Amino acid sequence: MEATQLNLFSSVLHAYSAQTSGVLDNAALYRNVAVAAGVSEADAAARAPVGKDGDMRNVFERKVRWYQQTLKSAGILEHVAGERGVWQLTRPASKDLNQIEPTVSVLGFSTDLGIAILGSCDSVFAKLDAPITLVVTSPPYPLARARSYGNPTEAQYVDWICKMLEPVVRNLVPGGSICLNVSNDIFMPGSPARSLYRERLVLALHDRLGLHKMDELIWRNPSKAPGPIRYASIDRTQLNVEYEPVYWLTNDPYQVRSNNRRVLQEHTQRHLDLIQQGGEQRDVSFSDGAYRIKPGRFANPTEGRIPRNVLSFGHRCPTQTAYKRAAKERGLPAHGAPMPMKLASFLIEFLTEPGELVVDPFAGSFTTADAAERLGRRWLATECMLEYVCGGATRFVQAPGFYNRLAA
Ligand SMILES: C[S@@+](CC[C@H](N)C(=O)[O-])C[C@H]1O[C@@H](n2cnc3c(N)ncnc32)[C@H](O)[C@@H]1O
Repeated sequence: MEATQLNLFSSVLHAYSAQTSGVLDNAALYRNVAVAAGVSEADAAARAPVGKDGDMRNVFERKVRWYQQTLKSAGILEHVAGERGVWQLTRPASKDLNQIEPTVSVLGFSTDLGIAILGSCDSVFAKLDAPITLVVTSPPYPLARARSYGNPTEAQYVDWICKMLEPVVRNLVPGGSICLNVSNDIFMPGSPARSLYRERLVLALHDRLGLHKMDELIWRNPSKAPGPIRYASIDRTQLNVEYEPVYWLTNDPYQVRSNNRRVLQEHTQRHLDLIQQGGEQRDVSFSDGAYRIKPGRFANPTEGRIPRNVLSFGHRCPTQTAYKRAAKERGLPAHGAPMPMKLASFLIEFLTEPGELVVDPFAGSFTTADAAERLGRRWLATECMLEYVCGGATRFVQAPGFYNRLAA
């Protein structure tokens, strides 16, 4: 049922985006949607009694008009002035993506634990009054060649991120955290030297929004594609990239809510053997006496190994593969830059308790929301592209209380 509804919804959307002009009259809309969604001629013409008066109406056309109205309320479709039954797209962002009006926001879908909003994060969070414990997000990168969902330029980046995050930071609980995954691979035009935008960004987040840097975590991605091609493979002046930075920031380092006991890892066999034999037998010092090992050290059993700040997660995983397949099956574009579930899950467990609120202003494929849902945290996520919200919904169909506003 869910798949059929989403198919019909995306067929309505595609019927408009397939037109070069983005303009379509209703008769052509019904025809195109019926063909794309595989609705038979008989079903497309079927009539049934509707409303109090029981008037006989075409059920299929009514449903298509319902989706048309949903798109209208999201500011994605508008009526062409003076033309009866003719509508057009307002903000096609690319061939496959439609962006909501910056000032409009509508519920996308929800579960018992969370809400996904189709809207621009700055306008949604500006109206929010709820204590946020953690933000895990990956804003658009300032790439020279924009991804399909677009991005601010490098020159606009710092001001843009501060503007987007300001209302989010205002709702952060004391000691709450923000984890920002940004790119290290932005180069000075025509040069193998990296942009210093990251440094400017961290300073601005401190100076303008009062955020303190807890760490620059390294997300090591062993499955990252080789690059930067021009500088590593052609000019040979750079090395291939294997990591992305994740800034971990807080508004109050003295009350920060992190707890590494929530993310302890299994001890290595070597460490277990050390405990077994009663700890270290050596009495040595290193680094001019700064670090000393005495006999008996590491003899006490502990709950687990404290993770290091290099987090190694490949970006392929079964959950993300399932999301991509489900989105494609429904005729929706799969997001091209999802973060690994394991990265989002690690940060959520390290930085929050169950029941606390986790948000992602730039939800994309809704990885952070998915991880929060699975870990029993409440969540709120915003995304400005309609198709990504529809695709993200496919992750939650089994979640308690799932309601899909865009396929109701
Ligand atoms: C790098 S992607 C996020 C990927 C995400 N972490 C995931 O795992 O799928 C950034 C997303 O931010 C969205 N976006 C850009 N500007 C936005 C805004 N003002 N409000 C909400 N979403 C926005 C883009 O459409 C894009 O999907």
